[in-house]
Amino acid sequence: MEFNDEITSAFEHLLTSVRSVRRRIDFKREVEDSVLLNCINIAVQAPTGRGEEGWYFLVVKERQRIKAISEVYREVLLEFVEKAGAPMKSSHRALMDRLGEFPALIFACKEGAPEQGFASQAAYFGSILPAAWSLMIALRAKNIGATWTTLLTARHQRVSEILGMPSSVRQLVMLPVGYTQEAVLKKADRKDASEVTFLNEWGNPFTR
Ligand SMILES: Cc1cc2nc3c(=O)[nH]c(=O)nc-3n(C[C@H](O)[C@H](O)[C@H](O)COP(=O)(O)O)c2cc1C
Repeated sequence: MEFNDEITSAFEHLLTSVRSVRRRIDFKREVEDSVLLNCINIAVQAPTGRGEEGWYFLVVKERQRIKAISEVYREVLLEFVEKAGAPMKSSHRALMDRLGEFPALIFACKEGAPEQGFASQAAYFGSILPAAWSLMIALRAKNIGATWTTLLTARHQRVSEILGMPSSVRQLVMLPVGYTQEAVLKKADRKDASEVTFLNEWGNPFTR
């Protein structure tokens, strides 16, 4: 398929509007299994080190397990906020309060654990995070909102027990998902590319 201006502009809009959706979710509407599988099939097209496919995706729809996970999430977030000594953002509180009601949670998981050494760790995380991000983009393209969360990695053992995960697998990212409802998703206010891009040598500005 050749890209044309219309498709490129739709794609650029997609990539620049994958925001965290914590509140504007239709909590009553189910997210169909076929839609989730479709999105996961897109996610597994992501790059992976040595062509290995050590990734797994655990979709949780059982209300009891979602509630159990939401309790763990609450515990970790409260602990995190207390340690940080800063007030909790209202959007973060909103997710904490309603996590138990989300239609589904998706855990992006990977076989094994990161080994010692920067290069091995870069390969380990680099072989799951692009897939998780593709998944979030694919969901967004179907009007399904999500939030990238990693807080639960602080309770790996508890989460594994709730989900019956073997010790040989790690969960790295949890996306609470649901169809968006009146969500206004637009570009984030970020630094311009020229402020964070160098040409040829570190510090040498890359300007238009
Ligand atoms: C590594 C990482 C971990 C994150 N963990 C959490 C989390 O546990 N809970 C949460 O509510 N948001 C989490 N976020 C989402 C950020 O808070 C979010 O990206 C930020 O609020 C900016 O909003 P935006 O994604 O809409 O631009 C995480 C994001 C990243 C990149």
